[in-house]
Amino acid sequence: MKALITGITGQDGAYLTQLLLDKDYEVHGLLRRSSSINTSRIDDLISEYTAENRLQLHYSDLLDSSSITNLINSINPDEIYNLAAQSHVSVSFENPIYTTQVGTLGSITILEALKHSDKKIKFYQASSSEMFGGGSKESLNESSAFNPKSPYGASKVFAHDITKIYRDSYDVFGVNGILFNHESPLRGETFVTRKISKAVGRITAGIQEKLTLGNLDASRDWGYAKDYVQGMWLMMQHENPEDWVLATGVTKTVREFAIEAFNHVNLNWEDFVLTSEKYLRPNEVHYLLGDSSKARKELKWKPSVDFSGLVKIMVEYDINEAKKDLALLKDNLISPTWEYPKI
Ligand code: NAP
Ligand code: GDD
Repeated sequence: MKALITGITGQDGAYLTQLLLDKDYEVHGLLRRSSSINTSRIDDLISEYTAENRLQLHYSDLLDSSSITNLINSINPDEIYNLAAQSHVSVSFENPIYTTQVGTLGSITILEALKHSDKKIKFYQASSSEMFGGGSKESLNESSAFNPKSPYGASKVFAHDITKIYRDSYDVFGVNGILFNHESPLRGETFVTRKISKAVGRITAGIQEKLTLGNLDASRDWGYAKDYVQGMWLMMQHENPEDWVLATGVTKTVREFAIEAFNHVNLNWEDFVLTSEKYLRPNEVHYLLGDSSKARKELKWKPSVDFSGLVKIMVEYDINEAKKDLALLKDNLISPTWEYPKI
């Protein structure tokens, strides 16, 4: 089996690549050229699998439609996972046009190529719980209404809808995975869970004093990313292309995540956490809780890690990372303060 992954260098791309290689797939990934190397999440896989051509990376960009179409034609994969996105909700307010271009053009470019392909190539679209908008406290499933609150959310609704339209109009095998938040040690450092776990590690090592966050009352249904990429693959093996929600069914506030993370190292979160308006968004998704009963019943999918388990995995990883930072600091190789601008 051959798979093409857009977004292979991201959190989910890295876990999905590992999963597919373990299943003996030949994996192709789309790599954006950047001025610094952006493959850190998959470097081990590159070392292990590129020599035998089991893992092949191709320079491209979702905005370069002709390059995407050429890649699909030359690779002729069995499955395409469209994971690439400008995936930071807050940044989508600052870069709305770029976020929308990537979020919409990529999906339709791939779907157009599949419409014209002789082979029935399966397509996975990375849909998001952000599409629901989080305005009520109901548990959300595949039939719940979308009411996006950000340019990012709106672009995901387009990609979701166009996947359904190509499925119904041209018999394309297009799957939408509506995934609620999923986290891990590979999570980008500007998403709130990783920002917290990284800060706890660094505070424990004595190289950070405070952690500044935005809205502590926002509530999310947080799961473990490895479980969610397993769910993506299961969706693609189902006999019919459909839409599926993946979620834990438990929602916790940002405050509860911080309390759990600091408790793990026997620290009182209130001694370290500050809040600042600079981390607030022009519009907020207040509450997300998912109902994944369809996936649990029909795909036999279920999350293997609960909220406490997730916090523990992330905090313990970042404690070790902070120890490495401390060693570099002692050699004057890195600067003692670390705070990412604004997001
Ligand atoms: P991520 O870590 O931010 O990774 C995003 C990936 O997209 C990176 O590989 C990035 O490449 C790539 N990318 C961005 N713009 C691109 C462009 N113009 N052309 C080609 N590649 C581009 O995201 P993630 O957490 O793995 O999420 C994977 C997908 O699932 C995303 O579409 C996200 O919106 C969606 N999703 C995520 C969650 C979640 O909780 N994680 C929940 C629901 C849906 P670089 O490495 O070069 O930046
Ligand atoms: N990033 C961030 N930084 N968020 C903060 C902070 C902070 O300092 N303080 C509070 N928050 C709040 C945000 O306002 C939001 O309500 C919540 O924490 C989660 O923010 P993020 O971790 O940035 O994730 P997200 O829920 O906005 O988006 C993620 O999940 C979506 C699925 O629902 C991303 O992975 C999206 O790509 C994904 O689609």
